[in-house]
Amino acid sequence: MATLELASIVKSFDKTTILHGIDLSVKDGEFVVFVGPSGCGKSTLLRVIAGLESPTSGEIRIDGQNVNAVSAAHRGCAMVFQSYALYPHMSVYDNMAFGLENLGIETAQIESKVGAAATLLRLNELLQRKPTQLSGGQRQRVAIGRAIVREPKLFLFDEPLSNLDAELRVSMRAEIRDLHARLKATMVYVTHDQVEAMTMADKIVVLRAGKVEQVGAPLDLYNRPVNTFVAGFIGSPRMNFLPIALLPPQHPDAALIPPGTHTIGLRPEHAQIAADGPITMKVGQVEQLGSTSLLHGTVGQDTPFEMVCNGQTGITGGDTVKLGLPRQDMHCFDKDGQRI
Ligand SMILES: Nc1ncnc2c1ncn2[C@@H]1O[C@H](COP(=O)(O)OP(=O)(O)OP(=O)(O)O)[C@@H](O)[C@H]1O
Ligand SMILES: [Mg+2]
Repeated sequence: MATLELASIVKSFDKTTILHGIDLSVKDGEFVVFVGPSGCGKSTLLRVIAGLESPTSGEIRIDGQNVNAVSAAHRGCAMVFQSYALYPHMSVYDNMAFGLENLGIETAQIESKVGAAATLLRLNELLQRKPTQLSGGQRQRVAIGRAIVREPKLFLFDEPLSNLDAELRVSMRAEIRDLHARLKATMVYVTHDQVEAMTMADKIVVLRAGKVEQVGAPLDLYNRPVNTFVAGFIGSPRMNFLPIALLPPQHPDAALIPPGTHTIGLRPEHAQIAADGPITMKVGQVEQLGSTSLLHGTVGQDTPFEMVCNGQTGITGGDTVKLGLPRQDMHCFDKDGQRI
């Protein structure tokens, strides 16, 4: 259990700056997810926290103590990677015990710690197997077990589920959340998958090109994204963006738009068919998913637009539909993409 503070973290490799001054505060027991596109610096930031990289400038504090000069081994962090990094020639038991043996902990204590972790992760039956005799999900649980036995103050996960198939990802997501609830540990979790971020986080940190774009609870980010980047990144299918010029100025809905609006954002699940609506959508493909239908099309000249309808629809490709713009569901952004 620990708090974590990052103050003005900058990281450059040679002349290239990757992290441009990151400030963040993580509470004791919080589950924080870093999310952002590939290459935005998520893993680098996690490695800086772990002590595997030194920041070029800035301060890392764990439990209020500056740990910049503390080595990775002594920071009390345990990291779980996407690649599991298990030793192939060692049994599950030995993979979990190895780090503790290196620290010179006595055998009885190691047995008890590994036993407790194995029970927590349902690995008791598998302790004598080698990693090659395990499924992907089981291997990932061993990697997590190896972190748990060290009783870290801070768990750091770098895309731990990306090697698993979709179904297993969903169940492991729940397992990690459950583990968090039972251990009450502080966890920092990196992913580029916004669904993982939405479902797992107490707090999401959206990163872009080495800068924090927004920090908040999942639904705060969904309901009030601060700019078009966060608006487009959080939520699936992605938010639609309409140039303001598409809205006929004489239409009653236009009076509701704040001055300075350049782009209107409307989520596919909030788009509504309305006979007197100001926007006309030309429907292209229709995906019938059973419980919902996803309509792909365009509005105006050629602006892509998607909408989700509940249930099954009689609308087919080639139809045109009128859309309303309910003010409470509209997100208005200025010419720089900032929320108004
Ligand atoms: N040791 C290094 N030397 C030079 N450049 C590096 C080094 N490590 C990372 N980078 C660069 O820093 C940037 C951020 O990399 P990082 O691995 O943190 O991204 P990421 O957000 O984790 O991406 P992904 O989602 O693909 O894992 C990339 O442009 C990468 O090429
Ligand atoms: Mg990464």
